[in-house]
Amino acid sequence: MLEQLKELAAEAEKEIKRVGSLSGLNDLRVKYLGKKGPIQEVMKKMKDLSPDDRKVAGQISNDVKRNLSDAINAKKEELELAEISKQLRDETIDVTLPSKKTIIGGLHPLNAVIADIEDFFIGMGYKIALGTEVEEDHYNFELLNLPQDHPARDMQDSFYIDEHHLLRTHTSPIQIRTLEAAKGEGPVKIICPGKTYRRDDDDATHSHQFMQIEGLHVDQSVTIADLKGVLEAFAKHIFGAKRQIRLRPSFFPFTEPSVEVDVSCSECGGDGCSLCKQTGWLEILGAGMVHPNVLKMSGFNTPEFDVSGGEAPRYQGFAFGMGVERIAMLKYGIPDIRHFYTNDMRFLKQFK
Ligand code: DAH
Repeated sequence: MLEQLKELAAEAEKEIKRVGSLSGLNDLRVKYLGKKGPIQEVMKKMKDLSPDDRKVAGQISNDVKRNLSDAINAKKEELELAEISKQLRDETIDVTLPSKKTIIGGLHPLNAVIADIEDFFIGMGYKIALGTEVEEDHYNFELLNLPQDHPARDMQDSFYIDEHHLLRTHTSPIQIRTLEAAKGEGPVKIICPGKTYRRDDDDATHSHQFMQIEGLHVDQSVTIADLKGVLEAFAKHIFGAKRQIRLRPSFFPFTEPSVEVDVSCSECGGDGCSLCKQTGWLEILGAGMVHPNVLKMSGFNTPEFDVSGGEAPRYQGFAFGMGVERIAMLKYGIPDIRHFYTNDMRFLKQFK
């Protein structure tokens, strides 16, 4: 019987050594240490032994069971460790692999310049007003003091949608809509950025679609000196602290007097170069004092026209309008307006 136990123990130990999985090991535990296992079977025969022999056999069988149990537990630990190591190996992340490239975009130069201009004027107390790209010609022309058949309409060749609607040729109709909404009560202090359209043949300096920013400040005592101060601060903000401006007489139907505004050349500082065509000055925008007709038609009292017939305050103000592309071209030395619209990455990347 003792021989039998020893043989069983030896065989079990061999099997435990060979087993390669935790489930296989569990099967062995059931097989050898379970109630119906061969060791139990052998031990059942102990009752036939003499009391002395039974004592010895009991001790030995207990030793065998304990040894087997220890061996199984040791093997279990070994298998679990192996499993964890394998899992760690399989799930290892190679931190030296190169990462995927994420391409971070930048603002389009026109949007960057618009944002910069908006920041400047918001800082001066202006609000941003927007309009629609399809406009009534009444707002695009008539209310801006450009009646039908007025020769100045030729300055702005238009895309008509139907008899009375067109793609706005400037952002000035927003000025009218804002004045109307104010119902004769100032102050009105806005800038109006937006897309505009004209029937031009595209070339280095013309584009049938372009961006404008219009400015308008109407109050009871706004003068052309205020206009000059605001535009000088604006020119220094965009083109550098050393820049100066000058106003030249000009004509727009919606302003009187009207001026063309030049900034001293940022390239040569005013000495004359190819950028400023040897004049020392660069034209940047048109401006003027809002024509009394325009204020009157939008429902505002002016020193010239008292539409209220009473003591209501009288208003005057200035307006200005600039092409954003032109500002950006002068600021960055961009030679061709078409670069803004052809989306060549080599061009756009430079403004990141
Ligand atoms: N609307 C003009 C244009 O597109 C630009 C302009 C000039 C706007 C003078 C103004 C202004 O408000 O006062 O040519």
